[in-house]
Amino acid sequence: MRQPLTPMTSAPQRQVASTSPVAARMTVLIVDDSNVNLKMYEKLVTAIGGTDVHCFSNSAGALAWVGEHDVDLIVVDYKMSAPDGVGFIQKVRTMGEKEHVPILMVTADQAKEVRRKALEAGANDFLAKPIDPDEFCARLKNMFALRQSQRQLSETASWLADQVKAATAELVARERETILTLSMAAERRDPETGSHLKRMAHYCEAIARAARLPKPQQELLLATAPLHDIGKIGIPDEILLKSGKLTPAELTVMQRHTTIGYEILRLGRSSTMQMAAEIALTHHERVDGSGYPRGLRGEQIPIVGRVCAISDVFDALTSARTYKDSWPFNDAVAEINAGSGRQFDPELVSAFNAVLPDIAQIKKRFPEERGSDV
Ligand SMILES: [Fe+2]
Ligand SMILES: [Fe+2]
Repeated sequence: MRQPLTPMTSAPQRQVASTSPVAARMTVLIVDDSNVNLKMYEKLVTAIGGTDVHCFSNSAGALAWVGEHDVDLIVVDYKMSAPDGVGFIQKVRTMGEKEHVPILMVTADQAKEVRRKALEAGANDFLAKPIDPDEFCARLKNMFALRQSQRQLSETASWLADQVKAATAELVARERETILTLSMAAERRDPETGSHLKRMAHYCEAIARAARLPKPQQELLLATAPLHDIGKIGIPDEILLKSGKLTPAELTVMQRHTTIGYEILRLGRSSTMQMAAEIALTHHERVDGSGYPRGLRGEQIPIVGRVCAISDVFDALTSARTYKDSWPFNDAVAEINAGSGRQFDPELVSAFNAVLPDIAQIKKRFPEERGSDV
């Protein structure tokens, strides 16, 4: 049995590779068309101890076996019916995870050419027939030590990869926490409710999924969309909280929430903060160029901004405010479709239409909070 991999939470145990006895059990494959040789090699390998030995007198059978089993060391004869030792090694080396398994070739053929071919094929060492038992055992122990080092390296690499993954997940979690805190801070001043932020973020994710945006982008949208109006913290109360219609001058000030949000968020260097900044800046752009703050057109508007535009408007329509009732679901869907190609990206409107059952579910899942400004 293999020794278990070191647990994720502790540093890998470093074992000093020793040549005798071997530190962990080794699975050894021996391939030779002479049964007499096979018996002799098996006896010698077994005597080393700590080994599980598998013998084959037929190289094709051995190849099939090695394709389906883990092996730590291979002893292979050169002269055999096809594939011969060199062909056998070549095939083993094409099996991804068998790329570094130590291979000892035993050959009666002393020709330099045979050795060169075997080396090229990937043999690690040679022994001349008839073998000397002491030399055979010494070479094998060295190769076991090599294998042991390979295992330790791979365990260390896998432990390190796990640690990096855990540390990255921790960083992402902290960043998401910061975003949540920021959006909650903004929510204290914004007459739009926390439920709006949640629904809108989930609508964004559903549309992004239907539009087949990459999964990491879908997840980032879910995390960052709640920050789309963070810039409202920079808008004076008399404008932000005004219940009546805004004057043109007030509207201009109000529209600055896009650039204020961008200025706040763009300082973050992570991809999360960069996306949040992009959304804050572009969620009021329209594909026909009549939006703000820059009047971008079509694909000049980042796709995350185009996705948010649909989600934000749809949720605003289907939510009640002090100055308006909520629209029926189907009327709001019709309004989004009416804006396709003018206000909204037509492909994303199609994606939105494709996930209407999900949109309805999300709306139900995050109802208006009691006491919110509805
Ligand atoms: Fe906005
Ligand atoms: Fe909004």
